[in-house]
Amino acid sequence: MDNNNNENSSKQKTTFTGNIGYILAVAGSAVGLGNIWRFPYLAAKYGGGIFLLVYLILMLTFGYAMIVSETAIGRMTGKSPIGAFTSFGDRKWLKFGGWINAVIPILILPYYSVIGGWVVRYCFEYLRGNSHAIAGDEFFVSFITDSLVSEICFIVFVLAAFFVIVAGVKNGIEAVSKIIMPLLVILALITAVYSMTRPGALEGVKYFLVPNFRDFSLMTVVAAMGQMFYSLSLAMGILITYGSYLKKDSDIEKNTSRVEIFDTGIAILAGLMIIPAVFAFTGGDMATLKAGPSLMFITLPTVFDSMGFGNIIGSVFFLMVFFAALTSAISLFETSTATISEQLKLNRTLSSVIVLVVSLLLGTASVFGYGIWDYVKIFGMQILDFFDFLTNSLMMPISAFFICMLVTKVIGFDGIAKEVRLSSQFRRQPMYYAVTKYIAPFFLMIILASSIASTLGLITI
Ligand code: PHE
Repeated sequence: MDNNNNENSSKQKTTFTGNIGYILAVAGSAVGLGNIWRFPYLAAKYGGGIFLLVYLILMLTFGYAMIVSETAIGRMTGKSPIGAFTSFGDRKWLKFGGWINAVIPILILPYYSVIGGWVVRYCFEYLRGNSHAIAGDEFFVSFITDSLVSEICFIVFVLAAFFVIVAGVKNGIEAVSKIIMPLLVILALITAVYSMTRPGALEGVKYFLVPNFRDFSLMTVVAAMGQMFYSLSLAMGILITYGSYLKKDSDIEKNTSRVEIFDTGIAILAGLMIIPAVFAFTGGDMATLKAGPSLMFITLPTVFDSMGFGNIIGSVFFLMVFFAALTSAISLFETSTATISEQLKLNRTLSSVIVLVVSLLLGTASVFGYGIWDYVKIFGMQILDFFDFLTNSLMMPISAFFICMLVTKVIGFDGIAKEVRLSSQFRRQPMYYAVTKYIAPFFLMIILASSIASTLGLITI
């Protein structure tokens, strides 16, 4: 894909050199902070086992259908989201559908990089041998409320992603992540086994794996759905763009299953590292379980510190998380850059500078929202949490809805089936139809309505 660097992306015609290049890029985009940081805290907060169950069902039905649709649309049109939507006509809703897909990554990248900055700080502190000082609540809280230090870490992370994009070393990074990812799995496995065997941890394993229907709420579904989109990098043009680079003989169905298994496997492992540890170290205190975005940054250091060589394990672990986050940020950066260069007819470098500036501005607002601007609340949320909510709970259902409409009303199921069948058997075709035509649009609208109603305080979910 790197040969495209200096071209306007609408003219990009190069394909991935092989299936493995595609899988690496998609898995690199999918596996990131969403799996290691976001999934465990949402699972802890929204019901444990019941959240996991709902998540798995959604992933195998909605997730599957969405990946197949996006990849097929991308491969069939050879374009990124706006171009792909409008290649079926210039009706207003098609334009809108393309745009909303394209805008989401531009809004996610800034706050994603803020969390990436937190990871940078943890890498740095572990490398300096501060494992002991990091374990405990105070370190994290005083860090994120210190706007200057958080800002510096955030800038380091954004610049790293920017550098990869302009220097065109993306393939190198993807090759590195081929080594990093398996290592991350091994280290996560060791830590998960360690967490699960602490006294009192079994309750946590049970809480995370065994569904308890009493913990179910509408919010479980809303959060699980948002997380599924986020984790698989769905409904934001990324898979359309990557699909446009895919060769006609690559098996879409098989690739989809592989990415789903890998992505979900890592999320579950992260849950097993973190949730049992909360029970072992704090007795399953509800306030800790519901801690939200801080959960990983508070629980894991406690675990590492108690393991013995905390500094070594902490350094290696957070470095791997850094790489996983970087590959995801690169996909966000890449898609945003492609959209800007395509729409404003600018060259790649200038477009990536625009993405950088927007990220710096919006990201800084998110950093300050936890620090010197902590009095700013948007619908009761801090700035970073608001961006997360806006993109995942409001915009993504809309964007996914438009993808379903594009498939059912314009391309038609036969069109999609023909594209998928070029290389796959399309065994799950009946399920794909049912989900895309009836179940998904209905559910997406319910989820959107309940997100809006709860933000406005009309219902409590
Ligand atoms: N899927 C990535 C993760 O799990 C995050 C991401 C979201 C990446 C959206 C690209 C687009 O961390």
